[in-house]
Amino acid sequence: MNSGDGALGGHPFVVAHRGASGALPEHTLAAYELALQEGADGVECDVRLTRDGHLVCVHDRRVDRTSNGSGLVSEMTLAQLRELDYGTWHPNSPGSSDGTGLLTLDDLVKLVLDWSRPVKIFIETKHPVRYGALVESKVLALLHRYGVASPASADLSRAVVMSFSAAAVWRIRRAAPMLPTVLLGETSRFLGGSAATTVGATAVGPSITTLREHPELVDRAAAQGRAMYCWTVDHYEDVRFCRDLGVAWVATNHPGRTKDWLQNGLTGVPQD
Ligand code: G3P
Ligand code: CA
Repeated sequence: MNSGDGALGGHPFVVAHRGASGALPEHTLAAYELALQEGADGVECDVRLTRDGHLVCVHDRRVDRTSNGSGLVSEMTLAQLRELDYGTWHPNSPGSSDGTGLLTLDDLVKLVLDWSRPVKIFIETKHPVRYGALVESKVLALLHRYGVASPASADLSRAVVMSFSAAAVWRIRRAAPMLPTVLLGETSRFLGGSAATTVGATAVGPSITTLREHPELVDRAAAQGRAMYCWTVDHYEDVRFCRDLGVAWVATNHPGRTKDWLQNGLTGVPQD
């Protein structure tokens, strides 16, 4: 992934944030399948380790908000997590037997790699967590198992690893130098400083709020040979802002309408 990576038809690429999570419950197979059907160029997921060492796609430390259960992911086994439903909490639940069981990273990588288009997966490792660096080593082991940990180039890579933790990005960079990485951050001070260079991140990832306040981050990253990944870009004006600025990747909860907006040139009045 480089700064020219976002130049497909002059548009940023669209990453489905937690799947098509504006429409369906986040981090469910149903939400990811919908995102891919809607034409997303990539999918984003958050990963955590279970007590027995499995990578699962859950954003929060606890399962309480997004399931019908309660507890810390890190204290539960895969089998315990599989007993829960991850869709019924949501107003648009597609039904408990319909793609709303626990989603493992394994399942999601399989879905992405088997899709009919060359979609990318953006895997975010959450920190600080009880299992520390074990998360990155398990992610890398999984990517090796699928043969996607050593791409010929960052552009051709089917996987990207991201984190707000510079140490986590460095661990990936050191062990898998060809794998693209995104250093996420909340402030322009952090992302515009030397952290991304120090850890060798191939892209930086500010929030849309930070980027609106500091659009110069795009040029600063490009001058260092780094691409820009921006989250979470849900509004029409924000998509237009990112497109005009040359952001390579926009992560959105609404991949379908974002693809449509981009394809139609974003020339109209705000539609959200
Ligand atoms: O894509 C990056 C973004 O997801 C970071 O924030 O809290 O949604 O994981 P969060
Ligand atoms: Ca995330």
